[in-house]
Formats: sequence, C-alpha cells, structure tokens
Amino acid sequence: MTAAKRIGILTSGGDCAGLNAVIRAVVHRAVLTYGWQVLGIKEGTQGLLQRPVQYQVLDLPQVDGNMMRMGGTILGTTNRGDPFAYPMADGTQKDRSDEIIGGYRELGLDALIGIGGDGSFAILKKLADKGGFQMVGIPKTIDNDLGLTEVSVGYDTAVGVAVEALDRLQPTAASHARVMVLEVMGRDAGHIALAAGIAGGADVVLIPEIPYSIEKIAQKIKQVRATGRNFALVVVSEAVKTADGTGVQKLFQGGQKRYGGIGDYIGEKIAEATGAETRVTVLGHVQRGSMPSPRDRLVASAFGVHAVDLIAEGKFDRMVAWSDRGVIDVPITEAIAKYACVELDGAMVKTARGLGISLGD
Ligand code: F6P
Repeated sequence: MTAAKRIGILTSGGDCAGLNAVIRAVVHRAVLTYGWQVLGIKEGTQGLLQRPVQYQVLDLPQVDGNMMRMGGTILGTTNRGDPFAYPMADGTQKDRSDEIIGGYRELGLDALIGIGGDGSFAILKKLADKGGFQMVGIPKTIDNDLGLTEVSVGYDTAVGVAVEALDRLQPTAASHARVMVLEVMGRDAGHIALAAGIAGGADVVLIPEIPYSIEKIAQKIKQVRATGRNFALVVVSEAVKTADGTGVQKLFQGGQKRYGGIGDYIGEKIAEATGAETRVTVLGHVQRGSMPSPRDRLVASAFGVHAVDLIAEGKFDRMVAWSDRGVIDVPITEAIAKYACVELDGAMVKTARGLGISLGD
C-alpha cells in the first residue's frame, strides 16, 4: 500500500449523467485499495473560493446505495466564474486564483481529481501550475468533443435520451403526417445529432461540421414522400447556422450566450420549401439530467479507478481516456488542445450516408 494520502475531487462545467458514478468509483478505489481519504469539493472551484472552504468527506456510506444511478452531481458544479477573470458584483473582473490556491492548501491535499471538459481542464491546469499542486483529469461532456478520448462520461446517456425522443416523435409524426424537427445539444460538435439520428432512424441530420442547403433537405423530404411515407424526422444540432452563416443563440443573465433556436428556423424553412406541416422539439437539458446509461456507468467506473491509480503511481497532469476497448491516460494539455468534432471521413458520417440519411449537403 502507498503512503496514506488525502485527495480532493471536484466536478466542473456543465453537469451530465455519470458524474456521481465517477465520484463513487474514485472513493471505492481510494478507500478500499489504498486506504486514502477523499474530500469532495463543492461546486467546482467555487468551493475553494469560500471561507470556510466548502467540502465534504466522502467515504463509502456517502457513495454507496443510489450513487451509481443518480443523475447530476452530489458535489454541485458551475460552468461560470473563471477564477483568473472572476466576474464581480460591480461588473468588473478580478483575478481570484490565489484565493482558490489558498483554499486548496487549507485542505492539505496531496492531489486533485478534476472531472470536467476542455474549458474546466484549461482552468484547473493553470491553477495547478500556479499553485504547484498535482492534478489528474477525468473527461465528461455530453458533447463528446474532448480530444484523445473516444468517449467522455455523459455522452452515451445524452444520445440515449435523444434517441428516445425520436422514438416518441415518430408515432406522432406518422399519425399527423408531419415533419418533426428535433434540436439537440452538442455545442460546436455534431456527435449527439449524428449518433441519435442514425440510431433513431432520422431522414435528415444537420451538424455544424457540414454546411447544408434547404433545397437539399426539401429534396430528401420529397423523396421520402415519393416512397409513400407520410412523415419525416429531422435532427438538428444546436450550433448549426442559418443560411446567412449566423449561429442562433439566446441571451441569458449576465450577458451569457448559449445556443438555442436553430430548430425553429429549420422547421420554418422546411415548411416553406415543402408545404409540409412541421413541429419542432428542443430537447435541451433533458439530455443531461437523466440516470446514466449502463455504458456511461461503466466508463465512469473505469475512469475513476484509473485516475486514482495514476495518483498512486505519481503520474500527474494526465487525463484518463478511452481508447481501443480500454482505459489509457494522456497528457492533459494535449487533450485540451485537440478539439474532437465529427470527422467528415469517419465511420459515423459514412454510416449515415450509407443509410440514405441526408446530411443537408
Ligand atoms: O457543454 C455541454 C452543454 O450541455 C452544451 O451541449 C450546451 O450548449 C451547453 O452545455 C448548455 O449550457 P448551460 O447549461 O449553461 O445552459
């Protein structure tokens, strides 16, 4: 057994299904195999900004029972408030990184496990470098856009939710002879849309990586009608642009912008071009809040165990990753640098085209 350690764990960025399964796996491995103590830091780096520092000791009683199944994160998370340019109440920004590093030191941690996406990792790495602390990353994001890992925690569940939505839209589409447009999340990567479109039997899938034309979409819908089918399913990824090349975004509190609304635009254009009755469903955060799928539970568990083992081996600045049916680890800076959008010559695009799905081009 390695020397007793005290490790911290935090969830950062947008939540997704499977975060609690990761926390559970980390606690199991750290406590049962190594006899270490695990401190769960609350609300990402926010917990380290507060005084007293906000954390809870995580032991087997806290993580057994329902944790594997639970959506969300018991630790809370945030996708706002970069500590190097922290938004203050008076509208200014302040570098609060030293306060976070101070909070980390107060806990007397030997290492930190950050569960996050590219944005969170970039911030955590910068903090770790500045504060001289040891860190390991576990990838999570429904968008599945982190480089050097085939999957991130949360992606499989999000795809499952989108497929279920298509399964539910199909009968109502057929009953009313409608074109159903489903807008899904994914930020600038079309992974959710493409996977859900293939698995959910869509006729058209629009992703940010492939420019589309309304004429091509209309052509596909007319072809579908010509075969005698009275309905069609269209999946649109949230970052798909309008004809003039602008992304459709909504403004939220504090001036933040988030994608949302392209489905309505595409629905209207399809109605104009084909005369079809269209309806639009924006799936939104439903994709994030579900119980994790079995696949996400497995990936989360394998990632959690490997991350703790990395700390035991003294390997830091690494991100655990899924590759070729197993878990590996890669330099965290390389993972952040390699944004993984849909590969135009990849298996999913080939499959979609092979099935006759229109990608709008
Ligand atoms: O990155 C995950 C994600 O769910 C994106 O797919 C989506 O665009 C965004 O977060 C939504 O962010 P928020 O939870 O702040 O609305």
